[in-house]
Amino acid sequence: MSKPIAGFSKLSKSEKIDWIATTYFQDAENAKSILKSYWNDDEKLQQLHDEFIENTISNFYLPFGIAPNFDINGKLYTIPMAIEESSVVAAASKSAKFWLDRGGFKAEVISTTKIGQVHFIFDGDSEKIEQFFEQTKSKFFAQTESLTANMQKRGGGILDIKLVDKTKDLKGYYQLHATFETQNAMGANFINSCLEQFASTLQTEAKYYDGLSESEKNIQVVMSILSNYVPDCLVKAEVSCKVENLKDNDIKNPQEFAEKFVQAVRIAEIEPYRAVTHNKGIMNGIDAVVLATGNDFRAVEAGVHAYASKNGTYSSLTHASINNGVFKFWMEIPLALGTVGGLTSLHPLAKLSLELLQKPSAKELMQIVAVAGLAQNFAALRSLTTTGIQEGHMKMHLMNILNQLDATNDEKSKMIEHFKSNTISHHAVEEALRDLRLAIDN
Ligand code: MEV
Repeated sequence: MSKPIAGFSKLSKSEKIDWIATTYFQDAENAKSILKSYWNDDEKLQQLHDEFIENTISNFYLPFGIAPNFDINGKLYTIPMAIEESSVVAAASKSAKFWLDRGGFKAEVISTTKIGQVHFIFDGDSEKIEQFFEQTKSKFFAQTESLTANMQKRGGGILDIKLVDKTKDLKGYYQLHATFETQNAMGANFINSCLEQFASTLQTEAKYYDGLSESEKNIQVVMSILSNYVPDCLVKAEVSCKVENLKDNDIKNPQEFAEKFVQAVRIAEIEPYRAVTHNKGIMNGIDAVVLATGNDFRAVEAGVHAYASKNGTYSSLTHASINNGVFKFWMEIPLALGTVGGLTSLHPLAKLSLELLQKPSAKELMQIVAVAGLAQNFAALRSLTTTGIQEGHMKMHLMNILNQLDATNDEKSKMIEHFKSNTISHHAVEEALRDLRLAIDN
């Protein structure tokens, strides 16, 4: 077992690399060379990445792809996606093209409210803390004025603060439950700063409030933090067309397709095992755009999955129907996104992504991201209910297998040709490549 190391963060980047290379790798030079091969030659750019986090020793690349032809509310977008899974960008592009010819995607922001809470313990009379809160409420706003001034200029700020009594669930537990409008910022820093000021106001004002006993004045703040559950920061995305217009190369019978598609969605609505995979497919699209635009995909993931369980059972995020010969497919999801602040202007590719999207507002980005998720789910369900998922997936995965087998560019072209009419599996590719190499040798 390796020994613990003290003061690691104080070491230089080279020293950190030396330490891990000699501690964990049989071939230390090889490990070092892999890490260094991902450094950027542009020193300023590398330094920027080094300074995003602590102990940076290299960069971890993900492919940055684009899916064109997204018609969203009548405007055309090319959507940037950062993702490693072979078939995701191809699926998004295919869906975009399919719906481009059928009226495009419609998207609408329903609400934009974000939430933060101060969790505290008050060991005393609940009526007294309620009275204290009512009489002190204006001070929570007043004492955060320096923090909220800029946000207010942009049309945002603190919307409301409520006292919530949670003592039935946990002895002495209360919350300041605050709602915020953060306009084009995701707002995490703004919200957390306001909450920490609320916590300080709460404790200080309690000390001077005559209506509380000495022991009641001693409020214990446990923590102050935003919630990544944002059910009131909602966006809806939708597609619809006449069932007969669903006809396509691999949708020969549109009525049958639409019915099977709706069944597939119903299954995900009632069966959690399926719902998780169904929603994972949606997140393939969502995370890729969230990441490419410098937003926090962990926050989005946490919030979206909580929303998928809002009725007590984990369920599908998307829904589908056929009414009067019209097929409709839609989704409503919570998304807290920003187009200013955070990594959005700091990471050159995030900045470029936002420019590619024609500098959207946060609301517009919510619509784009929701559409990417809906498109991804449409592509997955379309494959699953027609050809099966493996055909398209393996087609895209072929290149990964060929790369694993060190195929040359010439071999790759021949293999791509060969597998246009043959079923792809790891074994089949191995065999075909071996045959090709033998044929050339002979
Ligand atoms: C794979 O990443 C995503 C799918 O499994 C989604 C689904 O099953 O709906 C294809």
